[in-house]
Amino acid sequence: MSTPLLKATNIAHSFDYQLFTDVDFELQPQESIAILGRSGCGKSTLLHIFSSFIVPNEGEVHLLGHNLYRLRDEEIEQIRRDDLGIVFQAHYLFKGMKAIENLEIATLLSNETIDDKLLEQLEIKELMEQKIGELSGGQQQRISIARVLSKKPKIIFADEPTGNLDRETGNLVMRVLLDYIKENSASMVLVTHDENMAKLCDKRYILENKNLEEF
Ligand SMILES: Nc1ncnc2c1ncn2[C@@H]1O[C@H](COP(=O)(O)OP(=O)(O)OP(=O)(O)O)[C@@H](O)[C@H]1O
Ligand SMILES: [Mg+2]
Repeated sequence: MSTPLLKATNIAHSFDYQLFTDVDFELQPQESIAILGRSGCGKSTLLHIFSSFIVPNEGEVHLLGHNLYRLRDEEIEQIRRDDLGIVFQAHYLFKGMKAIENLEIATLLSNETIDDKLLEQLEIKELMEQKIGELSGGQQQRISIARVLSKKPKIIFADEPTGNLDRETGNLVMRVLLDYIKENSASMVLVTHDENMAKLCDKRYILENKNLEEF
């Protein structure tokens, strides 16, 4: 088997209480893995640990072969910018700017071009000249997914990417994400409450009783 894109060993973390201990996790190229679990069990925290934004109390994370806790800040910044695609619960779009300008920021930073096919698939091509503030929540969500994919990341971390969407639009977004990882040898860790979305992934884990287990 090839080198995993993400390998986490023995992860433990607590805030006010212990969220999880002894978490081991591996993500291979082209693989999609869903993480389920009750609200407050620590799924978003775990995703932030895997994606370099939180340092856990215990354990190690290797991203693209690098031990995160041995890298300099600039090296972590570079991995975040070039290789990680983050779709978190808040969108972080620039509200006063047009949709197209939000995408251009991502593609300029990563030397990529905006993929028209992607905009068509996400059904947002007609929205490009509108200001973000004029778009609906679900439209903004699809713009933010287009922005993430436009920079051609190797690993997508998605926290409830279909959370605000109706079933049909949710399925469309999932299909775009899964097509992207197959076509680009990328991979995805998806946090979701939706079992139907989880079923579309290659593997499913549940965070429960402070443990992460495949089921
Ligand atoms: N930065 C933080 N400082 C203190 N406590 C935090 C912080 N981030 C998360 N927590 C706490 O950790 C617990 C788990 O939060 P987390 O967001 O990881 O849960 P979750 O499984 O993603 O929940 P949901 O399904 O509702 O999104 C919560 O009790 C939360 O209050
Ligand atoms: Mg969460």
